[in-house]
Amino acid sequence: MHLEEHVSLLTHNTFRVEARARYFVTLEQLEEIPVLLADERLRTLPRLILGGGSNVLFRDDFPGVVVRVALQGIELLDEDGSHRLVRVAAGENWHDFVRWTVEQGWPGLENLSLIPGTVGAAPVQNIGAYGVELADVCEVVEAVELSTGETHTIDRAACRFAYRDSLFKQQAGRWLITSVILRLPKRFAPRIDYPGVREALGAVDPTPLTISDAICAVRRAKLPGLAPGEPGSVGSFFKNPLVQAGQAEALRASYPGLPAWSQPDGRFKLSAAWLIEQCGWKGYREGDAGVYAKHALVLVNHGRATGAELWRLAEAIRSSVWERFGVSLTPEALILPA
Ligand code: EPU
Repeated sequence: MHLEEHVSLLTHNTFRVEARARYFVTLEQLEEIPVLLADERLRTLPRLILGGGSNVLFRDDFPGVVVRVALQGIELLDEDGSHRLVRVAAGENWHDFVRWTVEQGWPGLENLSLIPGTVGAAPVQNIGAYGVELADVCEVVEAVELSTGETHTIDRAACRFAYRDSLFKQQAGRWLITSVILRLPKRFAPRIDYPGVREALGAVDPTPLTISDAICAVRRAKLPGLAPGEPGSVGSFFKNPLVQAGQAEALRASYPGLPAWSQPDGRFKLSAAWLIEQCGWKGYREGDAGVYAKHALVLVNHGRATGAELWRLAEAIRSSVWERFGVSLTPEALILPA
């Protein structure tokens, strides 16, 4: 395997910021993994397993090895009367895979349409949207432990899925996800209660395909796409903060408009977008770094913003939300180098 040197990451991150990887390699075959792991540089330098680059902010050059996972393949492993088990290689594009399932009439993934990135990145941050999370359908993650080269079959419980969190996020740098096995229900249970989805569906009958189309329309209306001419972004830049019930009640007493959703553990999830918008950031722009005018949780690169400029803006947003509301925002995106 050939590790290229000083490679531009401009086309490997959806923020479209310029940064260089000291070493860069694309992984296309499982058989290449042992060769890769035998390389001294991979064992000694910082490493980054990269999918579509749709959840990273490079605030500077990456001083180690970037492994771009491009493993391909989709396989129906098994099915019974109630479920299908599908194995998908980590390098497949998530949205293309979702569309492939809904076009066959298979339910389960339609609400997760148009999420950028690869299949291998999906479990890392437990992607979620419109009432569904990857954790709801993930049976097993197959991953190689980088320090030993051993392949592990990690079941759903062991993946420690939580809101935008997982074992793989907590132990970044330890695992190389090679494929994900999804358990898709055959019974179609439409989930269209999230605000805006029913309206986008209109009068058509809900099917996996029509719901997927509706979700795509809802997302396109408020999130920048990846097409040329649209600003670079990583979707939501921060997580929606989880706070104790007492703090949520106190905030709601002062700010009745603050959206807050109760969680099974008694805490409340607050809308980060609302907090940021209240601080006056929505549509803000400084040079080419800005906050999307249609959604306050989305930081955007209008052209030639640097990662450092975007990070400075993120920190200014965090400080202002903290000062005004006493709520700490955590980036959803991975900020690199650490
Ligand atoms: N809101 C504002 N100002 C805005 C935008 C939204 O005040 O500019 C308020 C509105 O009251 C709205 C509420 O925030 O009702 C929630 O907004 P939205 O439905 O857009 O969802 P979100 O909480 O901002 C989350 C996910 C998205 C996911 C949507 C839909 C996180 C960090 N983000 O966003 O995921 O698509 O819900 O389920 O949980 C992503 O992770 O990159 C992502 C896009």
